[in-house]
Amino acid sequence: MVRLFLTLSPAIPRFNLFPGISILATKLRTKTPAFSLISPSSSPNFQRTRFYSIGTRIYYSLPNSENSNFDDTLVVLGIETSCDDTAAAVVRGNGEILSQVISSQAELLAQYGGVAPKQAEEAHSQVIDKVVQDALDRASLTEKDLSAVAVTIGPGLSLCLRVGVRKARSVAGNFSLPIVGVHHMEAHALVARLVEQELSFPFMALLISGGHNLLVLAHKLGQYTQLGTTVDDAIGEAFDKTAKWLGLDMRRSGGPAVEELALEGDAKSVKFNVPMKYHKDCNFSYAGLKTQVRLAIEAKEIDAKCPVSSATNEDRRNRADIAASFQRVAVLHLEEKCERAIDWALELEPSIKHMVVSGGVASNKYVRLRLNNIVENKNLKLVCPPPSLCTDNGVMVAWTGLEHFRVGRYDPPPPATEPDDFVYDLRPRWPLGEEYAKGRSKARSMRTARIHPSLTSIIRADSLQQQT
Ligand code: KG4
Ligand code: ZN
Repeated sequence: MVRLFLTLSPAIPRFNLFPGISILATKLRTKTPAFSLISPSSSPNFQRTRFYSIGTRIYYSLPNSENSNFDDTLVVLGIETSCDDTAAAVVRGNGEILSQVISSQAELLAQYGGVAPKQAEEAHSQVIDKVVQDALDRASLTEKDLSAVAVTIGPGLSLCLRVGVRKARSVAGNFSLPIVGVHHMEAHALVARLVEQELSFPFMALLISGGHNLLVLAHKLGQYTQLGTTVDDAIGEAFDKTAKWLGLDMRRSGGPAVEELALEGDAKSVKFNVPMKYHKDCNFSYAGLKTQVRLAIEAKEIDAKCPVSSATNEDRRNRADIAASFQRVAVLHLEEKCERAIDWALELEPSIKHMVVSGGVASNKYVRLRLNNIVENKNLKLVCPPPSLCTDNGVMVAWTGLEHFRVGRYDPPPPATEPDDFVYDLRPRWPLGEEYAKGRSKARSMRTARIHPSLTSIIRADSLQQQT
């Protein structure tokens, strides 16, 4: 039944809402035998590290880890294909971005009004080789200069993830490079550490994208407590649908179009209710707000087929009022939950100084302004990556790969050739952290069967294994 949905449905909202799709598409890759000896890599940077294998992972020790210049010698290629952007970047260990390339599926987005998995997979496949080559060329490097390849392995659409993982393994296999599997949402959070040198653990993060609405407490690399999440849709999905129903140009995705039109509107003219006002937790819900927006659009008899550029003055004003009112309430919901989450986080980790806001929706100026007020009132500092690093990109993957690579979390180089039917380790539904008991949502727990242990629990198990 799920497969039928996959083939018949032209477009789905974002990827984290359809557990069935993931279950069909995911299998675990066979693991490297325990304590296997890894043959030295031909990569000069990889050779520079001493390494040993424990279980399924290699741990390495840096010869000069106290020497900060050492990092300059690490260079990682990051590949991102979890949703609708094909992205690659090359980043140096000191945070220098050597190149960044993104091919977006603007026309497909506009045509289908959302991400269509099969079409998105085809689009990734068509451009992935060129995107990676361009990233290397623009960095004036070849594969031989790399220390490792990092790639998003989840969460995301498995058809799309597979394209990036296949490419990453082929580069790593052909050039004997270690490979780092990256969690997409961790990458959204950690790219803030590339931008803001002062940002050290523990810190808080609000990660807002098309498929996720996460409030997390980052204790240390790979260790997260999930304070809140969405019980249905994420805020980006609500922006995208609002844009589509208002007849806006979807080619840059819905969010920027709503943000732009909202500037012309009166944000208090349409009365929308703030979701989950009386829930004393840090969870989110945007499905109800979407419905309120749809009803307001119907009440004003707005025709989505008539582009806003051709609307009459009155029609355009009505659309702008709805855009502005929606944006205000959507962000009020974020503000209320963030305030509570900061209190919870400070109880757990009183030394927190920063709150990161990242993910595509964090590129919205109104979002940044309003959240800055909340964060400052709590005596914390807001860290928002620049818009180009908030939306999906290869830099965040390369950087997160670097962070894990530095502490020895990576897989050995794959074989140079892999059979066509090789089963990749893809994690379409992969929680970032363990749920904070106080914030657990019954509604959500009933809807979502997890198929993968969280990143945090995997890393915790790995370090326990290392200690024994
Ligand atoms: O992180 P991202 O690039 O991809 C996912 O991981 O989903 O986020 C994409 C989401 C889309 O829903 C898009 O409409 C939204 O971020 N977005 C924005 C803005 N720019 C992107 N939403 C509101 N305002 C923006 N300026
Ligand atoms: Zn994203």
